[in-house]
Amino acid sequence: MVSSGLSTRIRAAREPLRGSLALSGDKSVSIRRALFALFSHRDVRLQNYGTGEDCQTALLCLEALGQTVERTADEIVIRSGPLRSGVTLDCRNSGTTARLLMGLLAGRDGTWIMRGDESLSRRPMARVTEPLAKMGARIDLADGNKLPARIMGSALSGCDHDLRIASAQVKSAVLLAGLHADGVTRVREPLPSRDHTERLLGLRQSPERFWMVDSTTLETLPIDLDGVIPGDISSAAFWAVAALLVPGSEIVIPRVLLNPLRAAWFDALRTAGADIQAHVEGVVCNEPVGTLRIRHSELRPLHVRAADVPGLIDEIPALTVLATTIPNTSRFEELRELRVKESDRLQVVADHLLALGVCVAVEGDDLVVNGGAELRGTDLNSYDDHRIAMAFALAGLVASGETTIHDADCAAVSYPEFFAELNKLTHDSVVMYNP
Ligand code: S3P
Repeated sequence: MVSSGLSTRIRAAREPLRGSLALSGDKSVSIRRALFALFSHRDVRLQNYGTGEDCQTALLCLEALGQTVERTADEIVIRSGPLRSGVTLDCRNSGTTARLLMGLLAGRDGTWIMRGDESLSRRPMARVTEPLAKMGARIDLADGNKLPARIMGSALSGCDHDLRIASAQVKSAVLLAGLHADGVTRVREPLPSRDHTERLLGLRQSPERFWMVDSTTLETLPIDLDGVIPGDISSAAFWAVAALLVPGSEIVIPRVLLNPLRAAWFDALRTAGADIQAHVEGVVCNEPVGTLRIRHSELRPLHVRAADVPGLIDEIPALTVLATTIPNTSRFEELRELRVKESDRLQVVADHLLALGVCVAVEGDDLVVNGGAELRGTDLNSYDDHRIAMAFALAGLVASGETTIHDADCAAVSYPEFFAELNKLTHDSVVMYNP
């Protein structure tokens, strides 16, 4: 995202945050349901499609690939057309769009250039192209690891993959490539990561924890991509943290995604004493959906272990902000993957907490936060990372004085409504301005 440079000033919340709010469609689910239209032979109609820029990026790439996208106030309709080759796909800030498209296109006829914004162009891509190359994919990367990429569609053969890292983007890219490969593609990961691709494709896991696809998967599975996309569970996490930061708060979020592999933050917070109630009320496209209610609670220190990390990877910046208000030491272990997100989130989180007056240490890839001391409002940069902008805006709710987030409008990458909602819930504690 190239932020337009708006800054946000946040004052401490003087009253509890109370209310109910609706969230636009989950980013991971929205992007998958849109991109999977590439192998649907009929129109795909999506309601509550994610409003974030990453979700729009996926639609722009589909248009570049020759699909027609109609946008109305109520729904997005994707009408399938022949796959267009020879075009450039601008994935802007969206790692999910880039990595899933590599898998989707690797075995199709055509050649494509893929590029991204400055942040996406710094992120590692060999983690996707290496397993795809084992299947016969031909994808050239700048410096062997970065965008821009040239994807040259080629014949693929299925094979077994034991992934080194638990990454849903890598796993999904390999499974999607396997749909157009000869033979069986099997993927196993070291720890379970989000399973939206597997749920949409209706896949089952073998007793040895392999996910399997082949070229018949698409014929035998009736994939119905249509329907309402549940609210974004990662956006919900910001409101959970806000409610837990400000005494007396209670926030309710209906129709939100409640996929267990995205909900590790419920457990991390409940173990620390948080009152979080999640009621599953239905299943949409194989995904559990329901209502989330978070009440302010007194918390014990947080302890996030290595095995928990894939299930709450995107929520860590917000959880570290919460840890600053909990007396004693919170620990977040094995955060190596945070270093290759939209920014080096481990470093940025540590630097920002320090700037707010928190005693914090990075020990290898672990983060240790000594909470309980008062936060001092200060000036912080978002580094054009949406989750950093939103997480540290929440710190402003409990810091003394004013907290300023520069380039805060990058929140629009996943949650364009965030600052307006925050302002509403805090009765005007937020000012957006052009510095
Ligand atoms: C995503 C997977 C995660 C996550 C990202 C979305 C997805 O990335 O951080 O925001 O939709 O598959 P990794 O696969 O790199 O862990």
